[in-house]
Amino acid sequence: MKRFIAILAFPLLAQAALADDLLKSAQDQFKPLPSKGVELKDNPNSKARFELGQMLYFEPRLSKSGLISCHSCHNLSTGGADLQTTSTGHGWQKGPRNAPTTLNSAYHIAQFWDGRAPDLEAQAKGPVQAGVEMASTPAQVEAVLNSMPDYQKHFKKAFPNDKQPVSFDNMAKAIALFEASLVTPDSKFDLYLKGKKALNKTETAGLKLFIDKGCASCHNGVNIGGGSYQKFGVVKAPIDQIRPVADTGRQKVTSKAEDAYVFRVPTLRNIELTGPYFHSGAVSDLGEAVKIMGEVQLGVELSKKEIKELVAFLETLTGKQPQVTVPALPPSTKETPKPDLSVAAPAAH
Ligand code: HEC
Ligand code: HEC
Repeated sequence: MKRFIAILAFPLLAQAALADDLLKSAQDQFKPLPSKGVELKDNPNSKARFELGQMLYFEPRLSKSGLISCHSCHNLSTGGADLQTTSTGHGWQKGPRNAPTTLNSAYHIAQFWDGRAPDLEAQAKGPVQAGVEMASTPAQVEAVLNSMPDYQKHFKKAFPNDKQPVSFDNMAKAIALFEASLVTPDSKFDLYLKGKKALNKTETAGLKLFIDKGCASCHNGVNIGGGSYQKFGVVKAPIDQIRPVADTGRQKVTSKAEDAYVFRVPTLRNIELTGPYFHSGAVSDLGEAVKIMGEVQLGVELSKKEIKELVAFLETLTGKQPQVTVPALPPSTKETPKPDLSVAAPAAH
């Protein structure tokens, strides 16, 4: 009788041991997302600064047209991204890259696909000035903000020690502080990492593949990515449509030959919400993106079943979306520059 029980119990015990091993291995390589936002260096949190940042994130008058805010391309109803292949900005102009999500972006080693901005503060100054995005200038932004007494009050409260609280730099600081709060904790995978039975059989198989096949060698840490620079096309170059020849990524930042087609590894948190995929936005199906990763990064041909399992795992990375109240913005005054839809002619060269 005893022997009989032992024979029956053995496969169950072995299974439990395997499940423990997988959890341990996952805990070694990934970290659950803390439920509080990220604290930024040299940018202390205060209610006033946070609220100002939230207003500015939604403020279309930071753009020349008065139509485009950060939220236009980093829409918090659609995973902090914009659903477009590449972003559309001022005058319907198309930029060269897909908009990454602002969710959890404070955890990245650096900002942009090529990591050219060291942090969120530096990043926020880019799109406001980019001709194809918001097409404004620091002076114009300061004129807009100074034209509204409500904003002057908000900046004073948010930056009480500054002689000139309304400034382009402080705009960026306030926006960065708001962005650092945009975290998505408590995904099924986070609950799993904390020891809960949160993954079903298919999702667990997907996690095992994600580790065993080597995806986790690049997509790891608290953001399941965002922590290193890697070549897009380690084993094989993706086709030109997916990895456009002209966009050499990090090489444009460092000018080093070995950085050709190197990009910051993107986070896979909330990935089911943030398609289309890759810096080119050329792939709209998540399964297709996974298949391509297998081929070009790892040199493996993933089966249909494996792709299904990997996608099921990736879908467990969707966390609780931030509950953000749409802020009421101050009324324009006589001094507020009027919306200007004109598009500057491309510089002659
Ligand atoms: C016209 C669309 C558009 C607008 C408007 C826009 N962005 Fe972006 N954003 C993008 C694109 C495209 C990228 C990627 C560009 C690149 O990597 O070269 C990006 C990158 C970012 C990143 C980096 C994320 C990462 O994973 O590296 C952050 C953060 C960000 N934007 C915040 C903002 C803020 C803050 C504003 C408002 C001041 C803003 N964006 C306005 C399209 C836009
Ligand atoms: C050698 C490093 C490396 C490995 C291994 C790797 N990736 Fe990636 N992954 C990247 C880089 C870099 C990108 C960004 C490519 C680009 O668009 O420039 C990326 C992009 C992605 C994207 C698209 C993300 C987005 O926001 O558009 C998905 C999905 C993805 N990887 C999943 C996987 C899966 C699943 C595996 C395993 C089968 C895997 N990756 C293996 C480095 C890696």
